[in-house]
Amino acid sequence: MARESYILANWKMNTTLSEAMVLVSGVLRKTEDLEKVNIVFFPPYIWLVPIKEQYRHAALGAQNVWWHPSGPYTGEIAVNMLKGIAKYVIVGHSERRSIFGEDDATVNAKLHAVLDAHLVPVLAIGEEAPLKIEHLSDAEIERHVASSRLGKALDGSTRGLTNNEWGKLIIAYEPVWAIGTGRNATGSYSANVIRALRRIIAKKTNKDIATEIPILYGGSVTRHSAAEFADQSTIDGVLVGGASLKVADFSAIAEAFAEAQKRRDKKNEIS
Ligand code: PGA
Repeated sequence: MARESYILANWKMNTTLSEAMVLVSGVLRKTEDLEKVNIVFFPPYIWLVPIKEQYRHAALGAQNVWWHPSGPYTGEIAVNMLKGIAKYVIVGHSERRSIFGEDDATVNAKLHAVLDAHLVPVLAIGEEAPLKIEHLSDAEIERHVASSRLGKALDGSTRGLTNNEWGKLIIAYEPVWAIGTGRNATGSYSANVIRALRRIIAKKTNKDIATEIPILYGGSVTRHSAAEFADQSTIDGVLVGGASLKVADFSAIAEAFAEAQKRRDKKNEIS
C-alpha cells in the first residue's frame, strides 16, 4: 500500500472566490504539521489560477478536462492549459457520468490525455447500488466486483494503459449510492471492495503495481467517519465532497489519516 495518504477536496460547483481563498488558507494552516498526507484542492476551474498565484505551494487539481489539445470545443479546457497550475485531474466522476452522459470510452480518452500531458489522473469509479458481498470469500468478492458495473468501469476506463501508466494512476473508489447522500459505505465494506480491485488490477498488470497504486474511498466522508476508512490499511485516502467545504471538517479528516499512519508506523517499528 502507498505509504502516504491522499486527502482530496472536490469542491464541485461551490464557493465564491473569497470563500475559496479562505478555505485554502485555513486548510493549509491547520494541516501544515501533518506528516505523510497529500492534500489536494479541486476548486471550480475559474479559481485555479488565483489560488495558485496566492498559494504557490498548494497542490491543485481540476475536476474535469477535455481530451483534444485545442479546437472548436466551446466551454472546454485542454490538459495542456492546466500545466503549471494543476497537477491532478479527476476523470470519470459519477456526476460527469450521470449528468453529462460520459461513458467509459470518454473517460478512457480523458485518462490517456491526462497521462500524455504528465499530469496525475484520479480515476473515479463506483457501483450504482451496494454490492451483496457479505459472507463471501475473497475470491467470490473479486468475481462479484469484476462482473459488476464497478469492474466494468475499471475495465473500460483503463483500456490501452501500459503498466508504466498504471503506475501513475490514483483510483477513487466512489460507490455512487454513497455520494452526496449522507450514507457512506462502511470501512470494512470499502476495504473488501478495494482489496478485490487490487486483485483485479494485479491480473491486468502485476502484483507490485496493484499493491502500490493509491486507491481512495469517496462518498459522504465526514470528520466522524474518516477514522473508519483511515484504519483500513488498504485505503490510501479519501475523495471528499461536502465535508471539504469546511476548514475544520476537512482538516479533521486529514488528521485522522495522519494519526492512523502514525499508529501503523509505530506498530511496524515494534514488530
Ligand atoms: P460527497 O462527495 O463527499 O459529498 O459524498 C464525494 C464526491 O463526489 O467526490
